[in-house]
Amino acid sequence: VSLDVASATPNESVAPAAPTRTPVKRTVLMCKPDYFTVVYRINPWMDPALPTDTSLAVAQWQTLYDTYIGLGFDVHLIDPIDGLPDMVYAANGGFVIDGIAYGAKFTYPQRQPEGPAYMDWFGANGLDVREPVEINEGEGDFLLVGDVILAGTGFRSASNSHEEVSSIYGRPVITLTLVNPSFYHLDTAVAVLDDTNIAYLPSAFDAPSLAILRERYPDAIIVTEEDAAILGLNSYSDGYNVVIAARAKDFERQLRERGYNPVGVDLSELLLGGGGVKCCTLELRR
Ligand code: ARG
Repeated sequence: VSLDVASATPNESVAPAAPTRTPVKRTVLMCKPDYFTVVYRINPWMDPALPTDTSLAVAQWQTLYDTYIGLGFDVHLIDPIDGLPDMVYAANGGFVIDGIAYGAKFTYPQRQPEGPAYMDWFGANGLDVREPVEINEGEGDFLLVGDVILAGTGFRSASNSHEEVSSIYGRPVITLTLVNPSFYHLDTAVAVLDDTNIAYLPSAFDAPSLAILRERYPDAIIVTEEDAAILGLNSYSDGYNVVIAARAKDFERQLRERGYNPVGVDLSELLLGGGGVKCCTLELRR
């Protein structure tokens, strides 16, 4: 029996194996969209003239909730409040690291009562609440990547809030300026995949911010305009499973190629309010 030497040598045409990813159990806060509707317009996605279907919104939100439970997450719920139709977008309710909850102070009057409502929940649930001085919309504009906080500004959170966050948490805060009104919160333009990897939409940022992103994350996933246009970046990862908009097909492919496990959900009804998966999810880090 002769040994086939050729087949024993490494074959360069074989793609390198994707890295092994490890899921980390997440604890999150969500708000059921019992009072969801679109009656004002504070972002380009919202059109009060278009009908909304609250029961469909609830059913779609329920599939996101069930997906998180299926992934083993610890999911907490805050009671929705009648008259606050955007309260379902829990990501905007604050920013929580190290058991410290930095409260939100919303840009538009329509959402301002949500700030105290979320702070009450944080306090009642054992978090150390810090009342905000500066305008900020919580995890919509603050994303933790490893030990670094990426902070958005341009449409909602004031850049002064970035300094406030830096002094509260004592971590590096990197300011990124958003320029496209359709991607008005940082979590619509950047997805955090794990402690070192992100995905983003280059056209959503001004030139200096884009230069920072390119330098810090040379291996980032760059999503297509098409995927971004259905808020495909507005996703939530546990380091392995990445819950994304089911329609973001190219993003799904790129995630799979890199060893992540994309899990698609359809939140089309909540897209009418300008939000997706991540917007409905506030991470609670104790
Ligand atoms: N209608 C809400 C607003 O414009 C949507 C918030 C989406 N949330 C998010 N984290 N991007 O404020």
